[in-house]
Order: sequence, then C-alpha cells, then structure tokens
Amino acid sequence: MIFKKGELFCGPGGLTLGAKMAKVEKDGELFKVEHAWANDYDEATCETFRHNICPDNPETVICGDVRKLDITNLPEIDAFAFGFPCNDYSIIGESKGLEGEYGPLYTYGIKVLKHHKPKWFIAENVGGLESANEGQAFIKILQEMEEAGYNITPHLYKFQEYGVPQSRHRIIIVGIHKDFGWTFKVPKAPFKDSSSWQTSRQALEEPPIPEDAFNHEFTKHQSKVIEMLEYIPPGENAWYEGIPEHLRLNVKGARMSNIYKRLDPNAPAYTVTGSGGGGTHMYHYNEPRALTSRERARLQTFPDWFEFIGGKEAVRKQVGMAVPPDGAKVIIEAILKSFAGIEYETESSKWEEELSEMLSTGKTKKNRKGSATKQKNKEENKEKNNDVAPKEEQVEFTI
Ligand SMILES: C[S@@+](CC[C@H](N)C(=O)[O-])C[C@H]1O[C@@H](n2cnc3c(N)ncnc32)[C@H](O)[C@@H]1O
Repeated sequence: MIFKKGELFCGPGGLTLGAKMAKVEKDGELFKVEHAWANDYDEATCETFRHNICPDNPETVICGDVRKLDITNLPEIDAFAFGFPCNDYSIIGESKGLEGEYGPLYTYGIKVLKHHKPKWFIAENVGGLESANEGQAFIKILQEMEEAGYNITPHLYKFQEYGVPQSRHRIIIVGIHKDFGWTFKVPKAPFKDSSSWQTSRQALEEPPIPEDAFNHEFTKHQSKVIEMLEYIPPGENAWYEGIPEHLRLNVKGARMSNIYKRLDPNAPAYTVTGSGGGGTHMYHYNEPRALTSRERARLQTFPDWFEFIGGKEAVRKQVGMAVPPDGAKVIIEAILKSFAGIEYETESSKWEEELSEMLSTGKTKKNRKGSATKQKNKEENKEKNNDVAPKEEQVEFTI
C-alpha cells in the first residue's frame, strides 16, 4: 500500500525524509509513503526540499504563502503532514497563540483535512503549544482536527528516547480517519534509559565529518569570543563562574541558559533551534567555536548527503526547524504497521486519560484545577525555556 503524501509548511524535508525511510512489509505487500506535493513560502527552503526529496519533480513543491494556495486544486493524497509554524506557541516571551500572526496558519491544515480527507495525518509543534493561551490554542486545534473526521493521538515525544542525539521535545499529533474505526498508538520509545542515549560526540565523530562535507563552513570568531569559550567547560554556558571578569558578557534581561553553551560530549546535545542572536549557534565540546551547519544537521540526524541550499543563516534556520528524520521515521513506521496490522510495542500518550474530556470540555487538567496552578505553570515554562533561542536584543555583548 503506497500512501501519497501532501505537506504544508514542509520546511527542508526532515519529516518527509523520515517518511521516505519508513517502510514495512506484510505478506509480501510493501507499506510506504511517497511524496506527492509540498508547500512552503521560503525560497531557499523549497530549493532544499526539491534538491533532496524530489529532484525529478521540482514542480511538486509549490513555493508561496499558504494563505494564497488553492487547496482544492492540489492532487489527491492518502497522507498529510503539517508542522505548522511555531513562532507564536514558543514558551519564551509573549505567547500570542491563536491571536498571533502565525497562530491561525494551522487552519490551512484543517482545510486540507476537510477537503482531501487523507487516510492519516501527522502534525508537529513545539511543546509550548500546550500552554499557549492558557491551553486554549492546543485544545482548539485538537478539537478542529477531531471535528474534521479524525481519531487523534497527541503526544509529547522526547526525541533523545527515539535515537536522536539531541534533547528535543515536540508535540506530534497523529490522526487516523474515523472511517477506519481505530486510533493510533504511540510507539514505545526504544531508548528510555538515559545510558542508551546517543551522545553529541557520537553524532559528530562517528564517523568523522569530511572537511569537504556540504554545509560545513566554520564561523570566524572574534579573538575575545574564542578566549571566553576556552574558559567554558563542556556542558557549561556564558554564565560559568570561571570566566574572568573582563571576558564576561554584559547582559540586559533574561540570562538564557543556551548562550555560548558548549555541548557535553557524553550526553545528547541540547535543542538545535533555527533562530536566535549572538551566542546561540551551539558550541563544540573540544574546540572553542560554533558548530557548523553540518554538525547541527548531524545532531538532527540528517545524513551527510542531504545538502541544504541557501546562505549560512538560511541554512541554520532550516536545520533548526526540521523534525529529526530518524525520529519521524519511528513514528511513521508505527503508522504503517498499524495499517498493515503488524503489532508493535506501545506506550501511553501524554494526554491519553484526559483527551476525551479535553475535547468535550475544552479544558486541560491544568486549567480545570484553576488559576492557582497558573503561576506554577509559568515557573515550569521558564525552566523549559532553553528550548527556544532568545531574541538578539536580549543579549548585549561587551566582548
Ligand atoms: C517548523 S518548519 C517545518 C519543518 C518541517 N516539518 C520539516 O520537518 O522539515 C515551518 C515552515 O513553515 C514555513 N511557513 C511559515 N509561514 C508560512 C506561510 N504563511 N506559508 C507557507 N509556509 C510558511 C516556514 O518557512 C518553515 O519552513
């Protein structure tokens, strides 16, 4: 059974690459996913997708604003993916959610579900979606997916537990058309035990990255930045107490934990992000320098043959926004197994117990408990905020 897949907000193709790699066989029949069409409004991103995913059919990637896309005219599909933009759901800063510029973009995904009625869909967003608009945005999106005709399974996937050398937590929602009468089950994370997690050293060194690899340009640092980095031990950041006074950063506002943070070679990397100003390019554990895009792509599990198109900043954005292909593969393979009737190990989804109540009451357990928990949630979110890169103006450098 071949599922032809359409995708909105396709990015460079992290999720699609995972989908391409996912294949299962039952009684001689192959179950797999094939790219049919994709849309994104960023030129360089579309070029990356075309170059790596569908070089023979570049016209199947429609580059343009989704708000101007004629959804009814797109070819028929069996599967649909949409990693709707997460800017307004991020934990840090003002969380505008549904009222923000990008919040309503998910509605174009709902339009595709209603018009094309794919057999299944997969949607992705940052963990912060759960708390945007005090949980209202998340529930509204889930309700609309359900009303469009799908049994949905939202879950917070911790990608380091799925073989990705990076601590990356994302909400992924899988929907199965109600006509099939079953609900997707979350595949059990194969690497629950932290001793089995892939480390950043493994990702960057096994095998070593050839000097002439794609997207492997080094950043030229100011000598004072190099000097400061030399004082920061692996796993520590710009606030490390051992940095001499004259090399310290002069900072207005929040002290983000990922500023000039060096990787810990013996643990998964911290989250690779696509934006952020000075000091947020992720820093090597041995060498006093920022990672190259290829190194960040390794942490995202992109193979070395996958070439990102565009300038250095454009590529940094593409790498950081993608779903790690290896993680996507595990989830999509579980979808294929479900359709093939092949059993697999499962675990309960994060909202399993409360999902039907969330959909019918429009409230999560957290906001059913009332505002007393609001402050606590805010504190928890602050803790989690190293997931999102800070805005440039939040860090002022004296060096
Ligand atoms: C989080 S990324 C998706 C990454 C993708 N799922 C992957 O795995 O590679 C979101 C994408 O939405 C695109 N985007 C944002 N606003 C858009 C709009 N109005 N129309 C079309 N694409 C848009 C961005 O250019 C970005 O590539």
